[in-house]
Amino acid sequence: MEVFTQKSALERALSSRRDGTVGFVPTMGALHEGHISLVERCRKECDTVVVSIFVNPTQFNDPNDLKNYPRTVEADLALLLSADVDFVLTPSVEEIYPEKDTRVFDFGTVDKVMEGARRPGHFNGVGQVVSRLFDIVRCDRAYFGEKDFQQIAVIRAMTERYGYPVEIVPCPIVREADGLAASSRNRLLTPEHRAAAPAIYEAMSTEAGRARTMSVAEMKRRVTERIEATGVLKVEYFSVVDALTLEEIDAWSDTVPMRGCIAVQAGAVRLIDNIAIA
Ligand code: PAF
Repeated sequence: MEVFTQKSALERALSSRRDGTVGFVPTMGALHEGHISLVERCRKECDTVVVSIFVNPTQFNDPNDLKNYPRTVEADLALLLSADVDFVLTPSVEEIYPEKDTRVFDFGTVDKVMEGARRPGHFNGVGQVVSRLFDIVRCDRAYFGEKDFQQIAVIRAMTERYGYPVEIVPCPIVREADGLAASSRNRLLTPEHRAAAPAIYEAMSTEAGRARTMSVAEMKRRVTERIEATGVLKVEYFSVVDALTLEEIDAWSDTVPMRGCIAVQAGAVRLIDNIAIA
């Protein structure tokens, strides 16, 4: 495994690999089982595996969130070494943004709801960094976890609208033993909030399992009530959306794939999760 801080050095190393497929897993570090599942899938499907570790300042709309985001590069590199990664890019902010990125992306409608509506500038920042990383790595396939369900829709819109020849590969959510979706933010939870957090998946999976026995509005109310019954979790939103367009759904459909997407405040930590609804 080779670790680069300079994008030109990674580009040079990749130049002899272009005859095979290049797979890419972009991350912000603080790696967990979810990231490793992306790397493993990438390893199975691609000849060369590239991972980036870069905490992208332009996608944080809250300076405290950026300051507190866990940074564990040494442990991350050890995990990537055992996952048989070929190349890792760990650039500085100046290396990725030699000058301020003023680009404003048009993702259509998929960034206007849920996270996009509540975190102004977040998805534009994701677009800025992912497009820069795609320009460096020029990968054939890029792997993203479905925990960030809306992010995948946004990145797909970006590749289609701005002509990136990259196949976006969505990968299933990895959960901790008690059902909490694996996330770098989980390690920031207090013991009290960590103990309550499994209620998020428990509520969504129980109510999604009997969704058609009630209205969409009733299901949303029940999910919210179950989670807030913990006394320490606050539901910011629970939306039922068309899984492709992310448009809100207010009646069950037999033709449209549906997804329940949630954001929950757990003390100072904001958690997101989602579930398919049959
Ligand atoms: O999902 C993430 O970790 C980040 O949003 C990404 C895609 C690496 C861009 O910074």
